[in-house]
Amino acid sequence: MAEDPHLSQVRPHRSQRTVAVTGATGLVGTALICALDSNPSPATPSAGPDTGPWSVRRITRKPRAGEFLWDAASNQIDPAAFDGADTVVHLAGENIAGGRWNASLKQRIQDSRVLGTRAVCAALGKANRRPAVLVAASAIGFYGDRQDEELDESSAVGSGFLAEVCQAWEEEARAAEQFGVRVVHLRIGVVLSRHGGALQRMLLPFRLGLGGRVGSGKQYWSWVELSDLIGMIVHAIDTPSLTGAVNAVAPQPVTNAEFTRDLGKVLKRPTVFPMPAFAARLALGEMADALLLSSSRVLPRKLVNSGFQHRFPDLPSALRHAIQT
Ligand SMILES: NC(=O)c1ccc[n+]([C@@H]2O[C@H](COP(=O)([O-])OP(=O)(O)OC[C@H]3O[C@@H](n4cnc5c(N)ncnc54)[C@H](OP(=O)(O)O)[C@@H]3O)[C@@H](O)[C@H]2O)c1
Repeated sequence: MAEDPHLSQVRPHRSQRTVAVTGATGLVGTALICALDSNPSPATPSAGPDTGPWSVRRITRKPRAGEFLWDAASNQIDPAAFDGADTVVHLAGENIAGGRWNASLKQRIQDSRVLGTRAVCAALGKANRRPAVLVAASAIGFYGDRQDEELDESSAVGSGFLAEVCQAWEEEARAAEQFGVRVVHLRIGVVLSRHGGALQRMLLPFRLGLGGRVGSGKQYWSWVELSDLIGMIVHAIDTPSLTGAVNAVAPQPVTNAEFTRDLGKVLKRPTVFPMPAFAARLALGEMADALLLSSSRVLPRKLVNSGFQHRFPDLPSALRHAIQT
């Protein structure tokens, strides 16, 4: 992934800090590490990534030299990965759109988050010098299907598989509080990037002029542009007053019909091929209801109240940036 000029404005506030990142090879982890690595110390501008203000530890199931092992078989993490780190950013989890949902994939989606987060907290507990903060991924799936109800962090959990997974995932991360660690659960919206996720999958059909709304098109999609999400992660690290659930979304969620229209306009392509709900269900099974047809109108109240400023608050500018970088 090429360096995004907007990400270079992700400025650390003080001298070198160590961030341990799980899921470092994923869409968000790669962009986060790229942003942190592109901030070398002003005193040593030509030095390598680990000599700048941010020192990054990558925690992965397939470590290379200098990286830390996540043992997938036993769900254990080397406690040394967290020892002396200032912050842990926990992003790891089985991709929820990695295939048609069946019992075994759903189990992996759940276990990788619930047991995986348990493993993170166990390793945190064993570290001699513990990090001050754990920024743990969660998702707007927490809220379930809620039509056009405005949802903020005080809204109740929804129903369905993803809501149950997100609730259990957050409960596991909360266990780090017993070690004096500040915990932030980022309830992440649909991440917009051409490098992965929903937008990447939509680009080809839309470019071919085969795009269109899904189902009624009235369902709300709460989205976040990738570089804004990276800014939110850094903001969560840097804002001691921020704790608990934090909605990581843009301030202007849109309906699927509006999303379709804006993507068509940005790509200068027609969007005249709607996908009926039954066709989406036929193609994707249960996942269609959970990811495409479900409606959640989520607002970033805690982020805004804590002073976070979105670079891409509106969808057209976010899409243009996401598609170009
Ligand atoms: N992208 C979105 O639109 C979106 C929306 C809402 C929430 N989120 C959440 O944000 C987090 C990061 O998202 P992302 O898009 O970067 O995800 P991603 O691209 O799918 O990457 C997740 C990473 O997790 C690790 N992983 C995969 N399967 C695993 C398993 N079974 N057990 C343990 N680790 C596993 C992998 O790293 P290694 O192979 O290096 O171990 C992978 O690179 C995820 O938890 C995701 O659920 C993402």
